[in-house]
Amino acid sequence: MVVILDFGSQYTQLIARRIREAGVYCEIHPFSISEDKLRAMEPAAVVLSGSPASVYDDDAPMPCEAALDSGLGVPTLGICYGMCVAATAAGGRVDPASKREYGRADLTVSSTEDLFYGFDAGTATVVWMSHGDKLSTPPSDWEVIASSHNSPFAAMRDRRRNLYTLQFHPEVVHTDRGRQILDNFLFRICGLQADWTMDSFLDTAIAKVRDQVGDGHVICGISGGVDSTVTAALLERAVPGQLTGVFVNNGLLRKDEGEQVRDALGSYFKTDLLYVDASDRFLDALAGVVDPERKRKIIGRTFIEVFEEAAHESDATRGKARFLAQGTLYPDVIESVSVRGPSSTIKSHHNVGGLPEKMKLELVEPLRELFKDEVRAVGELLELPRDFIRRHPFPGPGLAVRVLGDVNREDLDILREADAIYIEELHRAGIYDEIWQAFAVLLPIRTVGVQGDDRTYDRVIALRAVVSQDGMTADWYRFPQEVLARVSSRISNEVQGVNRIAYDVSSKPPATVEWE
Ligand code: XMP
Repeated sequence: MVVILDFGSQYTQLIARRIREAGVYCEIHPFSISEDKLRAMEPAAVVLSGSPASVYDDDAPMPCEAALDSGLGVPTLGICYGMCVAATAAGGRVDPASKREYGRADLTVSSTEDLFYGFDAGTATVVWMSHGDKLSTPPSDWEVIASSHNSPFAAMRDRRRNLYTLQFHPEVVHTDRGRQILDNFLFRICGLQADWTMDSFLDTAIAKVRDQVGDGHVICGISGGVDSTVTAALLERAVPGQLTGVFVNNGLLRKDEGEQVRDALGSYFKTDLLYVDASDRFLDALAGVVDPERKRKIIGRTFIEVFEEAAHESDATRGKARFLAQGTLYPDVIESVSVRGPSSTIKSHHNVGGLPEKMKLELVEPLRELFKDEVRAVGELLELPRDFIRRHPFPGPGLAVRVLGDVNREDLDILREADAIYIEELHRAGIYDEIWQAFAVLLPIRTVGVQGDDRTYDRVIALRAVVSQDGMTADWYRFPQEVLARVSSRISNEVQGVNRIAYDVSSKPPATVEWE
């Protein structure tokens, strides 16, 4: 395993994804991890991430010494801040920049032996810079292996310590040959094998589940989203006959979703799927509630009640269930260092807390180590319907956080119709898979319009579409204009009560993906 020490860079997760894409297992740990813990993991290599911090800050993040001087005896790759922190520890000098260097730079490689194997010496390749501090005097035993106009020490190595450092970011797509640089580090320098595949993951995960669960019974809430569906399918494969999937229709699903999930998953899970229609109960509990966090709490609480009752009433699970399977993914469990504080404080937490304690259940979380795209790959191996695997993420509180303000049946219907048209047009244009998440939002206002000879005073639909790696940060999707035009005209013509359509052009941060 490769250990990435996280100093808080926005790109840390990207480093992990690139390494995994290369077929090598890696984990992210906070920079402050102790030397003992780090040693106990027996890493094959260490990567020092970037950071928004400066080595001159009073509270500059510093890892244990062994991570900096290669005291662990394994190759180390320092990226950006990772370079600066390793250089200062080795006696080099870093200058605080008067302004950040941000954007593309031409890198000229001088040594093509290891990190830049396969490159041509002397020719330029595009790399992505994003740094404040910059190495000005390297430690005496470091060698320059590549440079750019503004960064004469853009890539360096210290062979004695098996240490390689880069001022730029090989993990971002704007660095043209970043993947090759990382591959060279993993395979040429560290001598690792590309043996982290989803096939091997699945075998190990199945064995682990069998080990944990034994002959116990497992229940699993299935929402129809990727994570919970793949979790349940993995359980079904690992411990057939010992799983009960519970699908709760909370009345906050998209158009026809309840039936679709029931049909598609019903044929996969057969009698192991329990369908509970609790729409009225959820909508009654939400009546008159406007505050988004209160909505989330009510939905979470009602879900626990419904789930518990269903488990109690079903012959399959009554008194039997000992385990609760959850589709927790790796981004939920990484203890990332964030300058803005843990992201979970921005909106209340996504998984249903409270259930395991209340029902005295032990958690089974077979996807804890995976990123979303890896989960999709596992879903394909488990032969789940492709439509389910490729679906955009959908939040637990569903349309309750997309009907802004008070949630009622009439507004939910308006939103469902508009959303269905929007998603249908994305499929028709062949761009659904390019987008991380797209949905319609119903605003709690009315605006003036004109239809035929009549003045209208009707509702507004906002369209949201974002591209993202993991939902932590996101950019708004640059739509082909004709698609937006068609969606807008169809919604205003076909959805009664809507006379205006807006497109949301905010990224995250400062906005969030959902409007509530
Ligand atoms: P935000 O709006 O926080 O969304 O930028 C990031 C991702 O999380 C989803 N999301 C939720 N998922 N329960 C969930 O299960 C929630 O309360 C919740 N709030 C946001 C959102 O759809 C996006 O994918």
